[in-house]
Amino acid sequence: MASITDKFGRPLRDLRISVTDRCNFRCTYCMPKEIFGKDYPFLPKNQLLSFEEIERLAASFVNLGVKKIRLTGGEPLLRRNLPELVKKLSTINGVEDIGLTTNASLLEKMASDIKQAGLDRINVSLDALNNEVFQSINDSGVTTERVLKGIEKAKEVGLEVKVNMVVKKGMNEQEVIPMAKYFKEKGITLRFIEFMDVGKTNGWDFSKVVTKQELFRELSSHFELEPVDPAYVGEVAKRYRYVGTNTEVGFITSVSESFCSTCTRARIAADGKLYTCLFAGNGFDFRELLRSGADDEKIRSTITSIWNKRTDRYSDERTEETAKHKEKIEMSYIGG
Ligand code: GTP
Ligand code: 5AD
Ligand code: SF4
Ligand code: SF4
Repeated sequence: MASITDKFGRPLRDLRISVTDRCNFRCTYCMPKEIFGKDYPFLPKNQLLSFEEIERLAASFVNLGVKKIRLTGGEPLLRRNLPELVKKLSTINGVEDIGLTTNASLLEKMASDIKQAGLDRINVSLDALNNEVFQSINDSGVTTERVLKGIEKAKEVGLEVKVNMVVKKGMNEQEVIPMAKYFKEKGITLRFIEFMDVGKTNGWDFSKVVTKQELFRELSSHFELEPVDPAYVGEVAKRYRYVGTNTEVGFITSVSESFCSTCTRARIAADGKLYTCLFAGNGFDFRELLRSGADDEKIRSTITSIWNKRTDRYSDERTEETAKHKEKIEMSYIGG
């Protein structure tokens, strides 16, 4: 397979595909109800890429060096017949790993079908074990029990599972240790995510970020941890192991220790726009290109020319000013 690089020599390796901008949660830090209410203009169906379009686009990316594909949303399990898409993607020659990032509310029902379709891994978002705290964050009535059942089912059918917990000051710090204990017991990797300034509706500022350093100090007073080497260059999480076990815990430090220098990720939003950074302001419209009848060669050369020009390193350069004033797209649209 070919390998293309950007202006800083970073190859294109991972493709994150958002399959819907809708979600059945209203997490206060992502899709606050005041903004994502009944009248919010979500994308109509004909503006979403079809499965055939996604498959074709993904195959072009794989041809240019992508090895890992991750499906995101919104909530990807809301997209009708998602296992069909997984199946299509898993037959693309050169794809080594297919993952899904989900809130797990529909996972118990769907785990078996998506595994059978060829999915390898699931990352489940869960920000608290305590049900009251969880419901006050997700603002949708879904219980922790439902999410935990989804996780159990996913493990049972043989999916590799990790859990993501966004930690935000005043929201859920008291849940850090209970979550760590619970998932250590279960042998499931838990990753703490620093609250990021994605989009423009989540009221982000530095004072609400709980940094890796703070989290690590807190964890170290309860558990003994040892560092684990990254599995590959450009891995998003900093990894540790609970000493004497095979269970890991990780930190995603976009704010306190950015990782742009090894960022190999491209993102396709649900409407087919390509973004070369989570914090990009605008993307290239591949839906239009696909629907205008472009051949595979044209698609590949367009991706190559965009990636060759890429200079994104938003988190490396983030300041209080850029965080407040830069035009940014919403997390639920671009898929995290
Ligand atoms: P793995 O392959 O399992 O490591 O998945 P992942 O961590 O890359 O994906 P996931 O969807 O679980 O993302 C976890 C968190 O990392 C989310 O909050 C993402 O927004 C964040 N994240 C993933 N990639 C990037 C990135 O390139 N830049 C930044 N700033 N955050 C990222
Ligand atoms: N900062 C950090 N993580 C976020 N997520 C959503 N919004 C933010 C934010 N502002 C997380 C979700 C999910 C992952 C895809 O991104 O909780 O775990
Ligand atoms: Fe919450 Fe994820 Fe839905 Fe955003 S996309 S509201 S973080 S479940
Ligand atoms: Fe990649 Fe942009 Fe995240 Fe940096 S901020 S790691 S360039 S997506």
